[in-house]
Amino acid sequence: MVTKTVGCPKCKTHIEIQGSPSETKIITCAKCNTKGKFTFPGEQSKIEAPSDSYSIEIENLTKKFKDLKAVDNVSFKVRKGEIFGFLGPNGAGKTTTIKAILGLIHQNSGNVKINGYDIIKNAIKSRKEVGYLPERVSFYENITPLQTLNFFCELKGYDKSTNKSLIKEVGLEDAIKRKVGTFSKGMVQLLGVAQVMIGNPSVYILDEPMAGLDARWVKIIREKIKMLNEQGATVLFSSHILSEVENICDKVAIINKGKLIAEDTVSNLNKYLKIKPRLKISITDLNGKVPVIIRDLEGVDNVEAQDNTLFITCESNVRSKVITMLEDAGFKIIDIKTIEPSLEDAFVKIIEGDT
Ligand SMILES: Nc1ncnc2c1ncn2[C@@H]1O[C@H](COP(=O)(O)OP(=O)(O)O)[C@@H](O)[C@H]1O
Ligand SMILES: [Mg+2]
Repeated sequence: MVTKTVGCPKCKTHIEIQGSPSETKIITCAKCNTKGKFTFPGEQSKIEAPSDSYSIEIENLTKKFKDLKAVDNVSFKVRKGEIFGFLGPNGAGKTTTIKAILGLIHQNSGNVKINGYDIIKNAIKSRKEVGYLPERVSFYENITPLQTLNFFCELKGYDKSTNKSLIKEVGLEDAIKRKVGTFSKGMVQLLGVAQVMIGNPSVYILDEPMAGLDARWVKIIREKIKMLNEQGATVLFSSHILSEVENICDKVAIINKGKLIAEDTVSNLNKYLKIKPRLKISITDLNGKVPVIIRDLEGVDNVEAQDNTLFITCESNVRSKVITMLEDAGFKIIDIKTIEPSLEDAFVKIIEGDT
């Protein structure tokens, strides 16, 4: 029980009240009968020692929307200095998890820490550590990139002096005088990266930073993610495309229907998933027939023929042999494409336990 003396806002009479931390009491002034409310301060939250090893720690996180468990008892940790890929198809629960990490939505249960700070008990401290790029980023169209960054600095109380160099760092210096409304989707995303770099956070959380971008822009954004990481930051980014996280992430977590179904290094994941790209070869007059020479070739896992197209799943070192053999056998090849394995292929493998 805490005792507190408060002043009546009307007649200034001192009133002594008793209550528990965080309790709200209705008070009536004995002298002038004025009614008022008083809330006792809450208990001081414990300041936890920041964790040395992990930038993000998620423990048994669950978030429900009515009957839907958008995130179902998810736990994973992101080491300091890591690039972490958070993979899952649309609707898997990536954005909901990310919003819970940032304290933007309240979880039903579970704990999240950023650099050792609990995001609820130490909300201000933990949020200061993070640069967050939301899924659908948009900026005012009638101002320049520099004005955009200056606007965010004013909003957050940061120094504007480094904004020009931020624009240079993300590679938008040639567009510094253009209005953001004239930017391509990829350029807007680069401006988003510059914006999250304001304040030099130690942890970046980027929600589908490559979604909807063509291959050239995916490459550019991946380079920027590497740049942030090389500057010493931890990066978690989400994606629904396996190839976007390959060769860049140290670790990957896969979420499906709110549940974490795999968490591993990319090389381990690839090893046990054994997912190979498929060759798609267009051939004149194939007419849906699988050439026997290819079917029996060592290193070829699967061959399917559809009209004049051949789909071949094989080891990468067998690809050139497949093409040479087809040509030698007199097949006229019109076009060759490689189809990258999709995240769905990975899911099917994981769910079926086909490892
Ligand atoms: N505010 C909300 N209200 C109700 N359902 C939601 C809300 N936000 C997300 N969901 C649902 O939660 C599930 C996970 O969504 P989300 O986290 O956005 O997935 P992802 O980012 O992986 O595409 C989806 O089924 C989605 O429809
Ligand atoms: Mg999403």
